[in-house]
Amino acid sequence: MIDLVAAARPNFMKIAPVLRAMEASGCGLSARIVHTGQHYDEGMSDVFFRDLGIREPDVHLGVGSGTHGVQTGRVLAAYEGHLLSASPRPAVTVVVGDVNSTMACALAAVKLEVPVAHVEAGLRSFDRSMPEEINRLVTDAVAELLLVSEPAGEENLRKEGIADGRIVYVGNVMIDTLMAELPAAKALGAPSARGLDEGSYAYVTLHRPSNVDEPARLVEVLSLLEAAASRLPVAFPVHPRTRARLEAAGLWSRASRAAGLRLFEPLSYREALGLMASARFVLTDSGGIQEETTVLGVPCLTLRPNTERPVTVSQGTNTVIGEDTSRALAFVEEILAGRYKPGQPIAGWDGHAAERVVAALVERYGS
Ligand code: UD1
Repeated sequence: MIDLVAAARPNFMKIAPVLRAMEASGCGLSARIVHTGQHYDEGMSDVFFRDLGIREPDVHLGVGSGTHGVQTGRVLAAYEGHLLSASPRPAVTVVVGDVNSTMACALAAVKLEVPVAHVEAGLRSFDRSMPEEINRLVTDAVAELLLVSEPAGEENLRKEGIADGRIVYVGNVMIDTLMAELPAAKALGAPSARGLDEGSYAYVTLHRPSNVDEPARLVEVLSLLEAAASRLPVAFPVHPRTRARLEAAGLWSRASRAAGLRLFEPLSYREALGLMASARFVLTDSGGIQEETTVLGVPCLTLRPNTERPVTVSQGTNTVIGEDTSRALAFVEEILAGRYKPGQPIAGWDGHAAERVVAALVERYGS
């Protein structure tokens, strides 16, 4: 028995293919889905389970939102409680990504001597002001099996002294989901349903504390969106955190009224993928979207000072803009003028990463 931890929106597309690959392999391992409840809304959680065909969680910890300490602490205590009474006890706890629940479940497991496997190990932004960077460092420090998605991951783990035998390059499970879902996503016709012409709008997602938490920065970011929206329509599904900050800063009505800026509720996986796939470019501070745009061949401008996913810059379609919004606008003009790098395929981002995850789990924990 394997515990597979689901928790927050970016994790659902990472666990779906692992579950599918485990069932298809006939390997005899079975998975218990543990949803921590870090994300709990219909739009942030339930719709992803339905769209991605993930069965109901076997265990729901129901932790909800809170400050970092409170949220992490609740997951740690609740998952420990589950492990103490779980029958059977898992042979391994599999955690994915870098959210608070990833780190908390890894800590609870390892303290009870349940080994931890980390999918998407080794990514480093080298920016400890990002909560996710702390989560990555702690999770990798306690995990036994480090399943890596991009070349930098291997390099970072080696530099941190992790033995080669614990590191396996499996590729990118999120791309498995993208490739499986792209036909259905395109069939939805999301752009025209939203009144957008294919290839001639921008798609925006922003939710990082560094872009949305400080009102002064939020004004800069909103001004950037207004400037971009004066050049082409901008589709912006607003994350709950971002919406709350816009409202608190008194900026929601300005954003709603901006010409060309189209605000949406959080979207389902397929609708988001369909809109991204046909966008002229994407502007984001998400981690996963830097990877998805690379595979889709869509230019991506990342509004952050760094990335933990450098292969998307060196080989893909991503550019790390930094915080300078005028630099972002200069790139927008380059893209609209047809001058932007095309990107190339990346090893292991091939739709079969989850099969390699399962093979690595079976090899170590199969009996
Ligand atoms: C978290 C992850 C981040 C990931 C992001 C994707 C951490 C440290 N951060 O950030 O890596 O990119 O999820 O969404 O784990 N809320 C709702 N409904 C929900 C969930 C949250 O309304 O279902 C609201 C709550 O007001 C909450 C806020 O969104 O306070 C932020 O949610 P939280 O999970 O704490 O962090 P994210 O910013 O979503």
